[in-house]
Amino acid sequence: MKDFAGVSISSLVKKYGSPIYIYDLDSMVGAVQSLKTAFEGQVEIHYATKANSHPLILKAFLKEKIGVDTVSWGEAEEALNVGFKPKDIIFSGVAKTSVELTQAIRKQIKQINVESPQELIRIGEIAKKLKKKAQVAFRMNPNVNPNTHPYITTGFRENKFGMDTTFLPELRGILRKYAKHLDLKGVTLHVGSQLRDLSGILDAIQKTIPVFLDLKHSGFHMETFDIGGGIGIPYDGSEPMDLKLYATQVVDLLKPLGCRILTEPGRILVGPYGILVGEIQYIKASPYKNFAILDTGMHHLMRPALYQAFHRMEKVGVVVSDDKVLYDIVGPICESSDVIGRDRYLPILEQGDLIAIRDAGAYGFSMASFYNAHALPKEIIISSKKATTLKKPHLPDSWL
Ligand code: LLP
Repeated sequence: MKDFAGVSISSLVKKYGSPIYIYDLDSMVGAVQSLKTAFEGQVEIHYATKANSHPLILKAFLKEKIGVDTVSWGEAEEALNVGFKPKDIIFSGVAKTSVELTQAIRKQIKQINVESPQELIRIGEIAKKLKKKAQVAFRMNPNVNPNTHPYITTGFRENKFGMDTTFLPELRGILRKYAKHLDLKGVTLHVGSQLRDLSGILDAIQKTIPVFLDLKHSGFHMETFDIGGGIGIPYDGSEPMDLKLYATQVVDLLKPLGCRILTEPGRILVGPYGILVGEIQYIKASPYKNFAILDTGMHHLMRPALYQAFHRMEKVGVVVSDDKVLYDIVGPICESSDVIGRDRYLPILEQGDLIAIRDAGAYGFSMASFYNAHALPKEIIISSKKATTLKKPHLPDSWL
């Protein structure tokens, strides 16, 4: 691999240093357009900014006229800062604080996805105090198997997310009590992430339709059915999912309800269009292992350490020989879990070589940390073969 998004990787490292994230903005926008085409205007797309909230990515998605799904007021602020309007913002998340909810209700954001009866009471109280009406949706937990890594499964009843139908009588009571200040708009789901088989989502939709209808027949407005995110990407380089088929299945299931359909995709819009590049500091060959030790690792890309995730890796530049050697590609962090790729056959590597880690556009930088007091990598955005980087790290205003 020499270039990414039409630009030489080594020239970017020369200019910006190592390690760096590089994003192909035009392809990210292309992914939004493909999803819009698949849904044919029948579904309102809200980008889950937790996947990657770089301001230039958010700005480009704003131009595509999609909304956002946020899980903290920090994420909502990042979206507001680039020009998203409160009416474009869904506020999800299991632990929304009073401070966060006050902001959301004051700004009259599009929809607060409620995760517990206590949260609904808190919203009712705050809305009453502010003399506002909050738009809410109930996040249901349909107890389905989404077939993904246990750490990113959210739709089992053992998971902390959403509410099963046993909560409904209590929720109805709270709605009645705060009738002037709570407007129940719909239901919402998110059963898991990196789903390579979407039967879990379809199952969840089918199980939640009776809840939607029941609430509708009780006189609530019930305008929206939010199917969450979760569509996976092929980290192994295989064929991506058939989005048209998925869109048709979802729309066919939900059309009879006569409601608006919302979705919250994250990974699929950005994941494949980013790489993390690091430089090999040392090659250490023992009788047992060949280690290629990088200047980047689990602090910058946590997915392999946290979910045993597989990311393809390539040597940057010209490969002269077909010979391959077995390496463990590891990072600088003082933990044995700091392995980005175990037992990988790669061309012969040397100190100073660059390694590109693929599919790092989602949940890469957004999950990065300062662990061991290493600096965060710079993020380079490429559009029309031109590279841009921000002068300062992007942080929500309220943090400062
Ligand atoms: N909506 C809600 C309520 C969510 O919790 C999530 C992701 C999404 C939408 C977007 O899901 P996506 O389309 O990106 O699958 N760090 C993990 C993924 C965690 C996802 C958490 N929730 C990873 O690196 O695989």
